[in-house]
Amino acid sequence: MTFTRRTLLGAAGAVAVLPGEASASGRLFRESLDYALGKLRQVAPNVTSFPEETKFEKWTYVNSGGWVGGFWPGMHWLAFLDSGDEQFKAWAVESALRLSPRRTDTSIHDLGFLFYPSWVTAYRLTGDASWRDGAVQAASSLIQRYNEKGRFIRAWGALGTPANAGRAIMDTMMNLDLLTFASEQTGESRFLDVAVAHALTTRAKFIRPDGSTPHVFDFNPDTGEDIGPNTNQGYSPTSCWSRGQAWGIYGFTTMYRRTRRREFLEAARKLADFALDALTPDHVPVWDYRSPLAPNDVKDSSAGAIMACGLLDLAVASGRLSYRVAALRILDALCRTCLTTRSERHEAILARGTRNRRTEVGIEVSLPYGDYYLMEALLRVLKPREISRAIGL
Ligand code: GLY
Repeated sequence: MTFTRRTLLGAAGAVAVLPGEASASGRLFRESLDYALGKLRQVAPNVTSFPEETKFEKWTYVNSGGWVGGFWPGMHWLAFLDSGDEQFKAWAVESALRLSPRRTDTSIHDLGFLFYPSWVTAYRLTGDASWRDGAVQAASSLIQRYNEKGRFIRAWGALGTPANAGRAIMDTMMNLDLLTFASEQTGESRFLDVAVAHALTTRAKFIRPDGSTPHVFDFNPDTGEDIGPNTNQGYSPTSCWSRGQAWGIYGFTTMYRRTRRREFLEAARKLADFALDALTPDHVPVWDYRSPLAPNDVKDSSAGAIMACGLLDLAVASGRLSYRVAALRILDALCRTCLTTRSERHEAILARGTRNRRTEVGIEVSLPYGDYYLMEALLRVLKPREISRAIGL
């Protein structure tokens, strides 16, 4: 069944849930977003660094921002967008500014994760050109990691060093919209060219015939020749790490929206169809769809939140209501079974995230990207026009 963009975005003023489902889920979603804003109000006054993961219900921090530093300011921008409360804006600005030194960091691929929810959103919501210029500077740093031979953005390792020089990962799909933003703002095609090339390579090398994906693909960094699939955070090179799959659904859909290239839409649908087929009736992804214990293994709620955002977007992009229905089921499950609401001392919003099961770091904890994408997904449902302003839908 296909629907118009207007139907899928929801009628103006109404809670944009499915016809007949509006009241129950709409109320739950609104209450969950209110809970998120309340939690931020409670916790933010004591936060002077970047939350990385929780230990025993309290945030632990990474002072440099690591790869996660964009999400804390991002959550405050979303809270500001929802409430108009200037206090959230002040927290967002303060936190985003602390990322400033990272604009010139060429040692990792995570510049999109760092600067999109923080500085790009800041520019879109405030119009202050210094945010835009900083985001473009970050994009300039990111494209230095492009390997022309293999046509991919190198994920890890400092430039000029051999370790991981030929390594591409699924997560990088989420860093490409920083590049499309830079091209749109500067009129320079070099950013978009790298984004399209990397997305085409990811499509060609990562996607298996059944729509599952490995976390990693290795190339010979000097010749660009294939070495093959691998993993860092998934169970094995032949498994399917659920957060990586979710990054892919979201990232390919975004690239389709920016370029209108059908192969990106088809890629997003293939990944989504595999993940939806692998979901259990509780609608919360297991950490790896192919771990030997799956589906009865630890969960990763962050994969669910990211996937819900991607599926809501994919429903609009493809005109297929079924993706929206699936997204709402995941979101409903996250709000019913994964919120921290029963623990007053908990500092995060969404529980049951898994950072890296393979290395046994952060199993069923809270993660700033879980919280951020939960808020984004709730706003995509409750306030589609407002969220469009912030993330450029
Ligand atoms: N981008 C790293 C992760 O998803 O854990």
